[in-house]
Amino acid sequence: MVRVTVGVKGRAYDVTIGSGVIERAGDHLPDLQQATRAFVVADRTVADAWFEPLASALVDRGLTCVHLAVPRGEGAKTLEVYEALLHQLATQEAHRDDVVVGLGGGSVGDLSGFVAATYMRGVPFVQVPTTLTAQVDASIGGKTAVNLPEGKNLVGVFAQPRAVLADVASLATLADRDFRSGLAEVAKYAIALDVELLASLERDPAGLLAREPGALEDVVARCVRVKARTVAADERDAGERLFLNYGHTLGHALERLDAFAGRTHGEAISLGMVFAARLAESMGTCEPGLAGRTTRLLASLGLETAGALPPAGEILAAFRLDKKYQGGVRFVLLEDVGRPAVVDDVPEAAARAVLEEMGAA
Ligand SMILES: NC(=O)c1ccc[n+]([C@@H]2O[C@H](COP(=O)([O-])OP(=O)(O)OC[C@H]3O[C@@H](n4cnc5c(N)ncnc54)[C@H](O)[C@@H]3O)[C@@H](O)[C@H]2O)c1
Ligand SMILES: [Zn+2]
Repeated sequence: MVRVTVGVKGRAYDVTIGSGVIERAGDHLPDLQQATRAFVVADRTVADAWFEPLASALVDRGLTCVHLAVPRGEGAKTLEVYEALLHQLATQEAHRDDVVVGLGGGSVGDLSGFVAATYMRGVPFVQVPTTLTAQVDASIGGKTAVNLPEGKNLVGVFAQPRAVLADVASLATLADRDFRSGLAEVAKYAIALDVELLASLERDPAGLLAREPGALEDVVARCVRVKARTVAADERDAGERLFLNYGHTLGHALERLDAFAGRTHGEAISLGMVFAARLAESMGTCEPGLAGRTTRLLASLGLETAGALPPAGEILAAFRLDKKYQGGVRFVLLEDVGRPAVVDDVPEAAARAVLEEMGAA
């Protein structure tokens, strides 16, 4: 069991990582004062596996659990589902000390965090992430949101949870594709921000790939430490937190361009990291070899490192829509592994040349 504190000013909270954390949830929660009920937002798949163990653990803390069911995946992050949850809280007379719990992947976490932040101007919120992506990334940092038809995450607030309980045992049932998608975020932390993690993944990723609880605990804890440190330094996403977007400029563009039919987030950022490494090499801002090392790591984790790309012109147009676009295309590039830097004004011609080398028309 590992505990990592996210030191945001005035609202610090702990992330508990380990196997069996859900069954002992009562031991890992902070004082929730007058709370009598926990409203647990979860889809059917996750609720079938984890609602009962969570509910029986919380009874020991004097909390009665109520399940609020939502659709699976990204389909949960809509204003309609958000509104339906608010109605359920209101009709069940949830009071301002009661707790909302997000039990599931990043979609359920983003949605339920937004519900908790806005119902009665804010009630306590606890994250119980059950995907690798949510454990290493989405559950930490307080970004909540739902989507609009016009785009992803367009409505939301920053609101930190009271606690995050990351049970690595829950990852056993994750579909391979969802697990691999999370491995792309792990690779991002390793390459951009944690060279010790990188070395250990390069040495032997077998335990992680086999989802051995000990290996998962180590890897999730390392990623959480990096995210916690970054969030504490930059809660509102102004500076250092940009580094967490390594590989995401091309990643987001690919997700936008092959909306719904295409790659998962992790698959898209995997290509994004290959692109960023090749771009840094071509601009001479890093030593040669970064792209090869990136490709080898991603391939060893079962991730895509080359593949069909939309036309370069469409990708460049999508870059201009990126929130990091402030007058020129702005990228997080590495000077070396573990040494990220924000580079403004990357010439479009340089980006285009690398995209074309990677096969974009
Ligand atoms: N707030 C943030 O900082 C942040 C960061 C990264 C991603 N996100 C958001 O997270 C979302 C993606 O989250 P995700 O990748 O976790 O996927 P997800 O939440 O969309 O879930 C994917 C699927 O996994 C299933 N699932 C979840 N846990 C499972 C388990 N233990 N066993 C079997 N199946 C399980 C779900 O039923 C669902 O079908 C996106 O909406 C993204 O915008 C937010
Ligand atoms: Zn990501």
